[in-house]
Amino acid sequence: MIIAANFKTNLTRYQTREYFTALERFIHDNGLSQEVLVFPAMSSLYSHSGKAIMGVQNAYPAVNGAFTGEIGCEQLNEFGIKTILIGHSERRHVLGETQEFIAAKYEFYKNLGYKIIYCIGEPLHVRESGEEKMLEYLRAQLVGIDTAYENLVIAYEPVWAIGTGLTPTLEEIEKLHTILSLTCKTKILYGGSVKADNAKEILALENVDGILVGSGALKVNDFCSMISDAQKLNK
Ligand code: 13P
Repeated sequence: MIIAANFKTNLTRYQTREYFTALERFIHDNGLSQEVLVFPAMSSLYSHSGKAIMGVQNAYPAVNGAFTGEIGCEQLNEFGIKTILIGHSERRHVLGETQEFIAAKYEFYKNLGYKIIYCIGEPLHVRESGEEKMLEYLRAQLVGIDTAYENLVIAYEPVWAIGTGLTPTLEEIEKLHTILSLTCKTKILYGGSVKADNAKEILALENVDGILVGSGALKVNDFCSMISDAQKLNK
């Protein structure tokens, strides 16, 4: 399974180094074979070698150029980073990225062979407007996205579940993942208020191939316990 941590705008460079050191020790000491991805803040990136893969939370679809405040793949190459999050709800809803721009970013990093964790998810008012409307909304987030790309992983993260402590029911998560798996023949992660105490039951669901964890992963011991949960499930 894929166990991923998105630090968002948290932890310093020093704390991130310490985190990776503890994480690698845990993976090694426990002989864990899960795929572990960690997305630190941009200023904490470095060339990491080990079992855990360091990815980037965002990058501009360019090699380099005049894009103030952004980084391109030239900067990612410096650290050997080949894994990227695209379409995260905070980039869509807080930073205002459009589907068109997200699709262009996807195409750019796809053509470079990056592993792409592509995020989709509906806000609460859409969920409350019924299943058909919700599926329509999610399908719109796949417009312009080549879902047959072999290095694609989908992360389903309901916007209203992110950072709120709320999650859909286990039945709802399983149902949605099953529907998504009919169109996207790729791994599908669940994200949104996953914590050390609910990770196992979510990971056990059919068509859930892993988790993308925000605040619940900021303490390395909690993240390690989720990796152990995945290992025990042996899916
Ligand atoms: P939380 O785990 O803090 O709800 O965030 C989920 C998320 O957005 C991961 O990308």
